[in-house]
Amino acid sequence: MSRPAKRVTVTGAAGQICYALLFRLAQGDVFGRDQPIILQLLDLPQAQAAVRGVVMELEDCAFPLLQDVVITDDPAVAFRDADAAFLVGSRPRSKGMERADLLLANAEIFKVQGKALNENAKRDAKVIVVGNPANTNAGILSAFAPDFPKANVTAMVRLDHNRALSLLAAKAGVPVSTVEKMIIWGNHSPTMLADWRYATSGGQSLSAMVNDEAWYRETFIPKVGQRGAAIIEARGASSAASAANAAIDHMHDWVQGSNGGWVSMAIPSDGSYGIPEGIIAGVPVICADGEYQRVTGLEIDAFSAEKIAVTVNELQSEISAALGK
Ligand code: NAI
Repeated sequence: MSRPAKRVTVTGAAGQICYALLFRLAQGDVFGRDQPIILQLLDLPQAQAAVRGVVMELEDCAFPLLQDVVITDDPAVAFRDADAAFLVGSRPRSKGMERADLLLANAEIFKVQGKALNENAKRDAKVIVVGNPANTNAGILSAFAPDFPKANVTAMVRLDHNRALSLLAAKAGVPVSTVEKMIIWGNHSPTMLADWRYATSGGQSLSAMVNDEAWYRETFIPKVGQRGAAIIEARGASSAASAANAAIDHMHDWVQGSNGGWVSMAIPSDGSYGIPEGIIAGVPVICADGEYQRVTGLEIDAFSAEKIAVTVNELQSEISAALGK
């Protein structure tokens, strides 16, 4: 094992997503089975004992790639020399809490973590924000990390992307592994647009194969958007293993490439597709050589433009509320 270890910051380490995520990271599912890692785990002071319990389990897996684990409640320690960061921890909505208060509470967390990222992480670190409201939290993080490259702060819409792949594959009766060119536009919220217009299976258009525009508009799009709520209803807890899996997929493809395939990532907009510059919104990308490239030049029809405007307006109002404007 001659390669230097990658330092990976993970926040919300005592939570349920991390209970799936940390083991996959330590197994080598993001950086490869020949890349040692050091986990730098951040959680609140009152969660430190629970983090230690998770770390005991990590030790008991005897993962060959896991070189060291840092446990801390200090963001500066968690982000020190980080090569990658998974920002999973956030403030959930408590009973009676207004949406604006939730946005403000999370903004406080991501301001602090943005400063810690700015002062401590490597300049080429790759950051994914999972903790909700993920896109807006990523925007706050980036705003408070002025010396850190904006392009390297992303948010997760990959769970929506994966949900859309499965749902469309089932409807069309094709293996999910054959579905390509799915797109999630906008916010990780029920307003996002799961866009099937370019999706193919074995080179064939899936929208032509299914040939049911009403199903697309009235069932598929809302079902992808409300899948999180359906899981809470059925499981009594929010999606965790699938969220961890999506975070792994997002970072894996960013680091190792997507083999020419389209994946959805929420990245700072360049102003294209009617999304104002700087807004961190889901778009289609292709990843190669450790970079993502936006898929450009796609036609946006009237229906899609209207849907994208709704989700982008929501993002803009969330950012304003989070900044207390
Ligand atoms: P959880 O409640 O089980 O765990 C959250 C953890 O974050 C707790 O251990 C808590 O102590 C910690 N935490 C809170 N504030 C923190 C801070 N300032 N610094 C460090 N740690 C802090 O939640 P779970 O299920 O693991 O979900 C985490 C987040 O991911 C939630 O915001 C959830 O809504 C979001 N999520 C996002 C998805 C996406 O697709 N983008 C999908 C599913 C969940």
